Amino acid sequence: MIAIRTEPELDLIRKSGEILKGCFLEIEKALRPGVTTGELDRIAEEYILSHGAIPAFKGYQGYPASICASVNEQVVHGIPGPRELEEGDIVGIDIGVLREEYYADASRTYEIGEVDDATRRLVETTKEALELAIDKVRPGNHLSDISHAIQSHAEGAGYQVVRALVGHGIGRRMHEEPQIPNFGPPGAGPVLKPGMVLAIEPMVNAGTFDVLTLKDQWTFVTVDGKLSAHFEDTVAVTDNDPVIMTR
Ligand code: MF3
Ligand code: CO
Repeated sequence: MIAIRTEPELDLIRKSGEILKGCFLEIEKALRPGVTTGELDRIAEEYILSHGAIPAFKGYQGYPASICASVNEQVVHGIPGPRELEEGDIVGIDIGVLREEYYADASRTYEIGEVDDATRRLVETTKEALELAIDKVRPGNHLSDISHAIQSHAEGAGYQVVRALVGHGIGRRMHEEPQIPNFGPPGAGPVLKPGMVLAIEPMVNAGTFDVLTLKDQWTFVTVDGKLSAHFEDTVAVTDNDPVIMTR
């Protein structure tokens, strides 16, 4: 069953989302060649805790950090550490915030310094895929309209979407029903209703969609070593336009 949130519940998710948004701004101030992903994790954790919330990822199924930082061919769930970001890298920063029992979840892929045109195009296309998907978050649409919007935009640009990982409902838990694949036909699956809250997260690979996990048992990488980009927002279905809780 897909939960329908009340207005007070939506307000709480929005509050978590506001903290998450502020956390991205803090991270953006620190993003430059030479910064370590571990330093970004420290900044995020301090920001979230000092705003009366909890980093939702830390301890989640044993995950050891407050954010995920996934560099270049890393798709998602990169563990922050001593790695220094370099000019030309891209890094996907994924953050979850828990405040007063309600979760928000979002991710941005950042370019470090100047990146080459092909890299920028992958990042832009992934961001656009998320925008097109969010535009499908309207009552009466089907869940897979979201999936289809992502797949058609990414594949239309010559990329592939990751199959092994999905977006998800969110609210009282970080991962709730429904699963939201980043591929599929239009017009299938549950009908969207006001009060549903969805974390939509396209993961787009420059090469094949196949991924594997590293020995750390968390980090997903592309099997062909080509780049991957990831954007995510927590979005509510309303009677009218979609409401993005994490912007
Ligand atoms: N943000 C991820 C998602 O959207 C969850 C990260 S899993 C964690 O599903 F263990 F890193 F927290
Ligand atoms: Co998510």
